[in-house]
Amino acid sequence: MRHLMSPLDFTTSELDKLFDLASEIEKNPKKFSNTCNGKILATCFYEPSTRTRLSFESAMYHLGGNVLGFSDAASSSASKGESVSDTIRMISCYADICAIRHPKEGAPVVASNKSSIPVINAGDGGHQHPTQTLTDLLTIRSMKGRLENFTIGLCGDLKFGRTVHSLINALIRYPGIQFIFISPEELKIPDYIREDVLDKNKISYKEFVRLEDCMEDLDLLYMTRVQRERFFNEEEYIRLKDFYILDKNKMALAKEDMLVLHPLPRVNEISVEVDDDPRAVYFKQVQYGVYVRMALILTLLELI
Ligand code: CP
Repeated sequence: MRHLMSPLDFTTSELDKLFDLASEIEKNPKKFSNTCNGKILATCFYEPSTRTRLSFESAMYHLGGNVLGFSDAASSSASKGESVSDTIRMISCYADICAIRHPKEGAPVVASNKSSIPVINAGDGGHQHPTQTLTDLLTIRSMKGRLENFTIGLCGDLKFGRTVHSLINALIRYPGIQFIFISPEELKIPDYIREDVLDKNKISYKEFVRLEDCMEDLDLLYMTRVQRERFFNEEEYIRLKDFYILDKNKMALAKEDMLVLHPLPRVNEISVEVDDDPRAVYFKQVQYGVYVRMALILTLLELI
């Protein structure tokens, strides 16, 4: 039995297979519409979500399976003090596979240790968000035809943004990836990513504060929102929340084939005037999130 806790849980060749399957599903979804008949996905979300929870549910329904779960810790027995370990033991009796989101880093690992069904980390605090990374990689691969030899700019809240941490971890395994980190001083990538991931693997990177100063160098721009829920101080959030606003003027500085990705939700960091730019692919990314989660469910349930 396999779980998905980190994007590194799959080798790059396993990821290739997963993305091939996701692309096959995209081309011929009907072929897969009964592959999960009789199977149940549990979505245990202790933190708010629109895309991750609903895309998992959509994925399971598209495979012919069923879904149960909770979308709020307050409506589960966590509110009475039940531990994640005990909850997953219950869920293992009710479902065949479980996606769990939790505000505490490591909670999905704790669940996986006590689970008798595959567990998927659907986001744990400011740590990792592996299925968003699968979505991001599938989007890049589908739209660019490769996952190597890119200069990627990661912009915004690089300190608390778990999607950024997961994506960096995943991309260092591909050759020719250059990172440009764009953030205010207060929201730079954490030291553990800098030391344990980048320095340890001898990955060079550049850092900028102004997006305008590196826009022309980017093949991919990964925008992120400032993670209000991780701030201890509301005043600090308010001061930083509109630090970056990607607009038409900044897009005019970029390459004609640069892609703009965003895990969403967006707050103010991408102006709606950018949405119609063909380089803005963040809504396409959402659709790829369904295909890749369908492929992931089939893979972890060993139905393919
Ligand atoms: N991208 C993402 O994780 O969105 P949700 O928080 O809405 O699930």
